[in-house]
Parts: sequence; C-alpha cells; structure tokens
Amino acid sequence: MKILFYTPQSDAAVWLADLQRVLPEADLRAWQPGDHAPADFAIVWRPPCDMLAGRNSLRAVFNLGAGVDAILALERERPGALPSDVPLVRLEDSGMAGQMAEYVVHAVLRYLRRFDEYAQLQAEHRWHVLDPHPRESFTVGVLGLGVLGAHVAQAIASFGLPVRGYSRSARRIDGIATYAGPSQFDTFLDGVKVLVNLLPHTPETRDVLNAGTFAKLANGAYLINVARGAHLVERDLLDALRSGRIAAATLDVFREEPLPVDHPFWREPRITITPHSSALTLRAESVAQIAQKIAALMRDEPITGIVDIARGY
Ligand code: NAP
Ligand code: GLV
Repeated sequence: MKILFYTPQSDAAVWLADLQRVLPEADLRAWQPGDHAPADFAIVWRPPCDMLAGRNSLRAVFNLGAGVDAILALERERPGALPSDVPLVRLEDSGMAGQMAEYVVHAVLRYLRRFDEYAQLQAEHRWHVLDPHPRESFTVGVLGLGVLGAHVAQAIASFGLPVRGYSRSARRIDGIATYAGPSQFDTFLDGVKVLVNLLPHTPETRDVLNAGTFAKLANGAYLINVARGAHLVERDLLDALRSGRIAAATLDVFREEPLPVDHPFWREPRITITPHSSALTLRAESVAQIAQKIAALMRDEPITGIVDIARGY
C-alpha cells in the first residue's frame, strides 16, 4: 500500500514516523514536486494544485483538518486539481471537540461572569461588586451542530445556561433548543446573548456574521468566531462594537491569516485575538483515526467523514 503525504508545515518527518508506526506495512513518502508515481492514499493539508491532479486511482484523500474549504477552493481555482470520484475524508473530532469546548466555555464564562469589567476595576484599584448577568436570558446560540458544534453546545448547557443550536437539517440534542434552515434563522437569533460560530465555510455560509445578523441578537451581545474568517464581515463587527450592539468578540480565525500587523482588530480592546489555535490537529489522535479508516477501506468496509463535495462540507 503506497501513501503520499504532504503538509506545508515543517513537521512532515514526525508525521511520517508516527504513520509508519501504526501502518508498518505501508510504503509512505513525502510528496515532492514532480512526483507522479502511483499511490493508493494521500494524506494532506493544503496541498499544491499539482499534487493530486489526475490521481484518479487513489482510494481516498485524507484532509488533516475538519474544515475542507481550502482543499475545495483548490478545485474551484484550478478545475481538475482534485481527482474525480475519489472520496475526500475530513478529520472527525480527533481531539478537536474537547479543545473547542474548553475554548468556547472559557469565553462564554468570561463574559457571563464579567471578568473583563473586573479586570478594569482592578486596574483602577476599585473594590466594587457588579450586578450579575441574569442567567435565564444569557442565551448562547451555536451556529452549526456538527461534530464540534454539538459537543460545544452540550458543554455550555452543562453550566445551566439556555443554549440554542442552528443547523442545515433538523437535529435533536438533549437540552438544546434546535433550529434548522433559513426559515428558522431569525427565530434562532432572536435575543441570543452569545453567538458562537461553528459552521463550515461554504458559499452559503460566507459572510453570515454580518450587520443583519447582529441586529437580531440581544443588545450588547457577544460574538465568538472559531470557524473561519470568511464568515465574518469585519467592517460590520467594528461598526457593531462602536454602536454597542456587540459588546465584545473573541476571534480565532480571520479573512487573512496571520492577521496583518496593521489590522484594526489589533487596536480594538473589546476584541480578543487568538492565532487559529482554538482546536489544533493533534497528531496522535489524527494518525490513529486515519489508520483505522485506511484499514477499513482496505477491507472494503464503509467509513464516516466523507465530504459531500456538492454541499461543501
Ligand atoms: P461538521 O461536523 O461538518 O458540522 C457542520 C455543521 O454546520 C452541521 O451541523 C451542518 O448542518 C451545519 N451547516 C452547514 N452548512 C449550513 C448552512 N448553510 N446552514 C445551516 N447549518 C449549516 O463540521 P465540524 O467538524 O463540526 O467543524 C465545523 C467547522 O469548524 C469546520 O468546517 C472548520 O471550518 C471549523 N474548525 C475550526 C478550527 C479552529 O481551530 N478554529 C478547528 C476545527 C474546525 P447539518 O447538521 O444539517 O449537516
Ligand atoms: C482547522 O481549522 C480545521 O479545520 O481543522
């Protein structure tokens, strides 16, 4: 079994060593420009256009992330860059759901318990108890109820806060009020105090975090974007912060990454910035998941996590 590997990051050798340990019979190689030799599987993150083009005999392409927007963009930019009829398989959780829950719960509790305002009071050496936010109206709305969104929604609900979730098709999750499809979008948003975005980036979801969306939230709402920068209309967020419609935002993802040094978000104290680190691809968990799926495919068994290319996720 021949496996091609590519990541633009510097740690390809460590990935290859770990993959070799769990797939001892595999002939693994790091893809280099000009390599057109046959392969059975490819494991990639942000591959160059000419790596996968024409490789129609691959049994599967594994994407080293949950989001497939970058690899699908490759096909849009250069039709034929992805081999036709080869399943594209994304990571499912593989340690990301727990990380995402920690990140989002931290941000929600920070806003609920007014830690930023206490930090300001501390800076002024002032001993003053702030009125707590009423929990019953501190509604958290989670956009996207997939592998990550459903886990995050349940983690927040465990603190006794009202939680809503929004997806494309109808979902039932214990303790979460669920809404599906564009006809229920406004009802989902109505009065939400913290909006968490965990949608995939597709043509349908691009720019979803915009002035129209913000206008339907509770006044002084909070935004947590941990999905993709392309979901957020940046100018609309700055305007909403200025007007007070949005009180503060925690952003892990940006239209341009790394966020340019002169970007206005760096100068806005109500925006918290992290460098696309809310849920990292964990090597051990990802290698184990991919190896298990390769073994299943070799036995002609079905696997989960195959991307619906037409849907975009
Ligand atoms: P997933 O399992 O595919 O779930 C996607 C969810 O979004 C599903 O509930 C889906 O609805 C919903 N959805 C998709 N299009 C929609 C639309 N047009 N309207 C309403 N709902 C829609 O994805 P996941 O594994 O949870 O990951 C979600 C995203 O998180 C990834 O695509 C990636 O961009 C991002 N991510 C970010 C980081 C980071 O470090 N910042 C790390 C990992 C992932 P259905 O349930 O009806 O299909
Ligand atoms: C990271 O952003 C991922 O999509 O896994």
